[in-house]
Amino acid sequence: MRPYHVDEVLITPRQLERRVDELAREIAAVGRSENLVVIGILRGSFIFLADLVRWFAMNDLHPRIDFMIMESYGSGTTAQKEPVVSRDCTIDLAGADVVVVDDILDTGRTLQKAARHLKEKGAKTVRVCALLDKPSRRIVPFEADFVGFKIEDAFVVGYGLDYDGRHRELPHIAKVTFTDEAKGR
Ligand code: IMP
Ligand code: MG
Repeated sequence: MRPYHVDEVLITPRQLERRVDELAREIAAVGRSENLVVIGILRGSFIFLADLVRWFAMNDLHPRIDFMIMESYGSGTTAQKEPVVSRDCTIDLAGADVVVVDDILDTGRTLQKAARHLKEKGAKTVRVCALLDKPSRRIVPFEADFVGFKIEDAFVVGYGLDYDGRHRELPHIAKVTFTDEAKGR
């Protein structure tokens, strides 16, 4: 782990709340289905998903909800290996219209792998909703169907996102500054 401090607020709780409400409406506009399934990627999506689905009922979206755990990170900030499904979702996805929810789209590897995996499990459609998107970091060609905020290449924490397992509880998104000034991650 590198020495760091958590500094400026990048996205406030109010901005998050407003955008999450809008995202639910964007999903409702295209994603209405009798067989809607929301799959959260743990652990980073837990706060975002909880807030997002609270807006679903008033948009007449009534999903089943499950989670899967994808691992790739270790304790660093670079995905060093291929992401793997370390805990799969368990509900039947045959014919389902799936919305995958994750905290952030970075290199794209995790969500590309997750989307493929869910298709292989029989989902009819798989759409992806990421709270944050860092387009400049993309390594594999992959785009989300719904994005909360596009951000610059900075490492961020809060609202579910962590550094080395910490800071998920922050009610806002904050930027991390690494104080060792080492280049690259
Ligand atoms: P990807 O596979 O590179 O797109 O990485 C996606 C995963 O990396 C996310 O689900 C996060 O867990 C993690 N990640 C990427 N960027 C950040 C960040 O700025 N803060 C915290 N976690 C991040
Ligand atoms: Mg994650």
